[in-house]
Amino acid sequence: MSINKSDNDTQLNTIRQKVDAFKETLNTIHQQNAKQKARHKSRAKLLARERIDLLVDEGTPFIELSALAAFDQYDNQFPSAGIITGIGIINGIESIIIANDATTKGGTYVKETIKKHLRAQEIAEENNLACVYLVDSGGIFLPEQANVFPDKNDFGRIFYNQARLSGKGIPQISIVMGSCTAGGAYIPAMSDETIIVKNQGTIFLGGPPLVKAATGEEVSPEELGGGLLHTTESGVADHLADDDHHAIEICRTIFKTLPQTKNNSRQQQEAKAPLTDINDMYSEVPEPGSSVKDVKKLIDFIVDESKFDEFKANYGTTLVTGFAHINGYNVGILANNGILFSESAQKGAHFIQLCNSRNIPMVFLQNITGFMVGKEYERRGIAKDGAKMVNALANSEVPFFTIMIGGSYGAGNYAMGGRAFNPRLLFSWPNSSISVMGPQQAAEVLATVKKDQAKALGKEISEEDIAKLKEQTVESYQSQASPYYATSRLWDDGIIDPKDTRLVLSIGLSISQNKPNKKSNYGIFRM
Ligand code: COA
Repeated sequence: MSINKSDNDTQLNTIRQKVDAFKETLNTIHQQNAKQKARHKSRAKLLARERIDLLVDEGTPFIELSALAAFDQYDNQFPSAGIITGIGIINGIESIIIANDATTKGGTYVKETIKKHLRAQEIAEENNLACVYLVDSGGIFLPEQANVFPDKNDFGRIFYNQARLSGKGIPQISIVMGSCTAGGAYIPAMSDETIIVKNQGTIFLGGPPLVKAATGEEVSPEELGGGLLHTTESGVADHLADDDHHAIEICRTIFKTLPQTKNNSRQQQEAKAPLTDINDMYSEVPEPGSSVKDVKKLIDFIVDESKFDEFKANYGTTLVTGFAHINGYNVGILANNGILFSESAQKGAHFIQLCNSRNIPMVFLQNITGFMVGKEYERRGIAKDGAKMVNALANSEVPFFTIMIGGSYGAGNYAMGGRAFNPRLLFSWPNSSISVMGPQQAAEVLATVKKDQAKALGKEISEEDIAKLKEQTVESYQSQASPYYATSRLWDDGIIDPKDTRLVLSIGLSISQNKPNKKSNYGIFRM
């Protein structure tokens, strides 16, 4: 299909607008809670992101995860869900950092705060990354307790994970920089090594108001669970710091004693920049679900020297597969260039097996409307061919990374490394869109179901009612398919500017070297 220049210009402007809107949204999130931030600073405390800046090695990137978690929920009172998580380098060691933002409702936890905390611990587990917890939190956000406290993946899972991670030799370090109440007290108590800031950090199972209610005893927070008490009498913490700066310095010193486990065997060659000009990248960003752009041109902006060795270039061409290097790491890339047909799905399954057998990590560039439907394709067994690709991916043991570069609809989401298939990291572009099917298709399906239902009961359904149903369906699908809706609920690890794709993939590939891969075992492939 050919596109003319004016179509291209319009699309380019749209992409630019979407990236700008994303950056503006991020900026708004960062500016939020000005009053609370001023109060926090007046207490001689650093803000969560300032603490992280000091903790990570100078000049190294901090990859923040899910910065827009809880966006457009809770009346937007929980920017970033009140917690900053991400991947950073501390004294040369790749680590996960989890920092409460005390300026957001006292650093308390709603559902998305917990999801974010648990996801960060999951990334630590999958990649053998040390964890640092910068604790400054009032624990559970009490009005939301039913969504936060009791279930398997709720608040308690944080402590379960800490014990399991420590058991696997993954270091757990806490710095108590503020409140650490009730269940939250277990974060430092479950850590391998804990630092607490004098006259600022407190750790107690029941705070002063609870103690007063339960026993009538009146006690100050410092007396009940301050730094001096915990480092001299209770032994709940190990190091007493004078202030935030000092605490971070102690933590960085602790990192000098941590074991280095990294094996860089997959970094096969020196990193070489792509030959393309990054400023031209937006021109190749696709419209969700559209295949009018050649995805190979996009790959040129991501891989070393823009060199891509294609596999089965002339077969199943709606899925592009091939090998390349990203920052010196050998990778297998799978990228959509249209609907998945039987041939493309078989080619995908074959390529995934190749990557596993050669121990090469994979990158999925997902822009998929789904598998081909229709009588002829069902007859020829598109379901079993799609299943082969899904099966190969589900049993993959090499790390893989997914970037939502356009649309993500239907079972194509699964075969192309969707969230349910455990990509090590999954990022979305601001132009992406995700739902079980496109809004128009969903509206048509629901309208047909309603008409058939009425017909079976011998009833009539008015055209007006059908039109209303369609309109409502399109509206709700459009809002729920937005990348902001998805990222707010942690269906991804964050939205990124397409230009940052190479950077996040490089970091993902690098952290994955900390853990050896198991050998993959495949299930039964239906032939
Ligand atoms: N649940 C719901 N809201 C909470 C909360 C909690 N556990 N802890 C604090 N908040 C809210 C406050 O109501 C306030 O909301 P507002 O901004 O709408 O007024 C905001 O968080 C900030 O609290 P504030 O007390 O003004 O801040 P602070 O910095 O002086 O103190 C804490 C922060 C966390 C030390 C203090 O609020 C506290 O002790 N909270 C109770 C902690 C607790 O008992 N948790 C047990 C739950 S497991």
